[in-house]
Amino acid sequence: MLFKVYQLRTYVSIMIFAISTCAVPPTENGGDKIYTDPARPIEDRVEDLLSRMSLAEKIGQMTLPERQAFQPSTLDDIKTYFIGAVLDGGGATPTNLTPAEWLSVVNEFKSRALETPLQIPLIYGIDAVHGHNKVDGAVVFPHNVGMGCMRNSDLVEEAAAVTAREVAATGIDWTFSPCVAVARDERWGRTYEGFGETPGLVKEMAYAAVRGYQGTDLSADNTILACAKHFVGDGGTTGGVDQGDIQLDEQSLRELHLAGYVEAIKAGVGTIMASFSSWNGQKTHGDDYLLTTVLKEELGFDGFLVSDWAGIDQLPGDYASDVGTAINAGLDMIMVPFEYKLFISTLKDHVQNGSVSLARIDDAVRRILRIKFMMGLFDKDITQTAGVIGTPEHREVARECVRQSVVLLKNTDNLLPLGKDLARIHVAGKSADDIGIQCGGWTIIWQGSAGPITPGTTILEGIQETVSDQTSVTYSLDGSGAAGADVGIVVVGETPYAEGYGDRTDLSLSEEDLAAIGNVKAAGMPVVVILISGRPLSIADEIENWDALVAAWLPGTEGQGVSDVLFGDFSPTGKSSHTWPRTMNQIPINLGDPDYNPLFEYGFGLSWPTF
Ligand code: BGC
Ligand code: BGC
Repeated sequence: MLFKVYQLRTYVSIMIFAISTCAVPPTENGGDKIYTDPARPIEDRVEDLLSRMSLAEKIGQMTLPERQAFQPSTLDDIKTYFIGAVLDGGGATPTNLTPAEWLSVVNEFKSRALETPLQIPLIYGIDAVHGHNKVDGAVVFPHNVGMGCMRNSDLVEEAAAVTAREVAATGIDWTFSPCVAVARDERWGRTYEGFGETPGLVKEMAYAAVRGYQGTDLSADNTILACAKHFVGDGGTTGGVDQGDIQLDEQSLRELHLAGYVEAIKAGVGTIMASFSSWNGQKTHGDDYLLTTVLKEELGFDGFLVSDWAGIDQLPGDYASDVGTAINAGLDMIMVPFEYKLFISTLKDHVQNGSVSLARIDDAVRRILRIKFMMGLFDKDITQTAGVIGTPEHREVARECVRQSVVLLKNTDNLLPLGKDLARIHVAGKSADDIGIQCGGWTIIWQGSAGPITPGTTILEGIQETVSDQTSVTYSLDGSGAAGADVGIVVVGETPYAEGYGDRTDLSLSEEDLAAIGNVKAAGMPVVVILISGRPLSIADEIENWDALVAAWLPGTEGQGVSDVLFGDFSPTGKSSHTWPRTMNQIPINLGDPDYNPLFEYGFGLSWPTF
């Protein structure tokens, strides 16, 4: 990893001079190329450009390698192989780069692509799934599980628009977001990436998020290309197993899992990512019925379809068969992510021996070029000034999201809101003063991490800022030393994870967390428990002993949003995006089940009493 960072820094230092490269191809004989003429209709430009492309140039557009597939010495492969897109995966972690340094890294790739004869601009993708979350200093929003609790699509849209501005500020133009999974089984480690358990909620937020990222004009400087994922049914696998099998009849698959895509397409989503999962035993990456018949033909998706990380490698058969099956099933761009030369030569062989038709290649490339024209990439200079990230205005939007996403689940004797002038408040728990824990996975690094991984305000800091000068706020990790306080606030829950690493069959609190709560309670005061988690937890046996309970989900960097509610500056309005089970055995439990007897139902959320 150190090597990678070093390597990235080398790019930065070599290439800082290259960022003034212009994306507008010089006009030939006074500008008679249709594709370079911004006045021409996009479809004409696409056809003109396609007619000028060799097979190698076409396949290059369909190839999506990861940044770390390249060494400084192999960067010219971008030119040699006509690579059309690069991604920054979750695991590739350049730390402490300024927006200007990010911009120069990205332009390193973009400028190479412009040195090819046709000068087709390269796009650069990243998982900006709750803010520009890999970038140190960017504002980090609540994960979608919390955003769904807001029931506020305008705010979801605004948050995505802020993310788009921060992503664009680093020269990146494509996010692998929104995740429109309908998470039906909370054992799934990606539950927090989706907006909730019902298709109705997900579809509303899918539309809003796409509009936020892409705006109404993809070519505007502040908008970025969105990617709805993971098509289709990723949240419906049996047992909540990541990348598992969705065992559903077609009607149920459609009713539960398709709506988010219908809405994303209505909102104009430019790209959709296929799911690692299988439907009744067949891997979606090779399923031409789902990818082509349903998504492209029936739903009319005319953007491009990208595969997931080495997703085609999971298809049955050898690599050559994987490539043929995936492209013939309808995937347009392949997230390779490393062996791009092998992918390119394999696909070329398929076309040459007729096992993949040129018509299929042309269809894929048309779709990719169409999006690139819509993004205005052929018509603007890639020279950009790096923008600003993590501004106070952007943080304020995230703080508002936190206020609206927290869900008040229990409030005995109206313990909340707390007075700001209590003599002493004791705060405890491992999640009370930890930015990394409150951000969760997909933050700075793929799996996220505990600790001060990016600037922000912890929940403890938010409490300290909110109370009056007379109030003393004491803190201990394990709840010791609480005696004598007026009230205890214990912040506990899950520690960061991403994807399959978060699959869990037991969602109860750890011994450490229960001890912290128990110690404060034993010191003889009312206790407010705040849960930091990517999903409902199994708490039915403990909740009796807690006086108040707030689900704060994975709130991100703006921890004051939690204290804004605790101390009554904002009344809680969040409605749970998931059903809370009484026991693990009840999972999967979802609104509409025949024997629905949860601890807290979907949509539950208290507010202050009205007097
Ligand atoms: C995830 C995707 C992500 C991709 C790129 C995959 O492992 O499933 O959601 O966009 O990696 O990082
Ligand atoms: C990617 C993930 C991927 C993982 C596998 C990360 O860099 O972003 O999507 O699944 O690597 O190692």
